[in-house]
Amino acid sequence: MLMKLFPTHIYYEPLLKTSSDKLRSELLRECYQLQDFDREGKRWSKRNYAGGYTSYGSMSELFRFSSTFEQLKNKIDKHVVQFSRALDMDTKNHKLEMTNLWVNIVPKGTYHSLHLHPVSTISGTFYVQVKRENSQIKFEDPRLTCFMGSIPRTANAKKENQRFHKLLPREGHVLLFESWLRHEVEQNQSDKDRVSISFNYNWF
Ligand code: NI
Repeated sequence: MLMKLFPTHIYYEPLLKTSSDKLRSELLRECYQLQDFDREGKRWSKRNYAGGYTSYGSMSELFRFSSTFEQLKNKIDKHVVQFSRALDMDTKNHKLEMTNLWVNIVPKGTYHSLHLHPVSTISGTFYVQVKRENSQIKFEDPRLTCFMGSIPRTANAKKENQRFHKLLPREGHVLLFESWLRHEVEQNQSDKDRVSISFNYNWF
């Protein structure tokens, strides 16, 4: 008998029917609008997000201020329900709610180093603009720090046995994972900005 226990779940699905959806173009417009007037965010990004812009340090509850972002939240909520069901989370007794939603604009040459999302339950990203050569998101095996004398895996190891997993997301798609899962975004090699909207959920 071979048991597989304690899996790491990553949820990735289209959130919009097509990438030409009106909501996506409206979100793209508002992301750049925000970058234009968010001085505090620009200062914060200079210190903490070199080369790029994020509203994480200045405006991280965007669904409360814009109906476009609220519309996105309502759609993400449905996917989070699916994901929490797949994980058998007891959301009847512990309500899952979005706590933060913020914008990231990553120009050519910029990357986002390895991190996790502390004090949250589920985190994720909606992809507004991603070109083919844009950076991938890379997940790390959460057990990596526990490995002592673990033998390297073969080059063609099954996905579930690899130490890292890379994904090039597509526009209009949503990605969800548990917030403790460490991830990084590789350097943007494309001339186009990589525009995404990230969020956290917590339970109450
Ligand atoms: Ni992240």
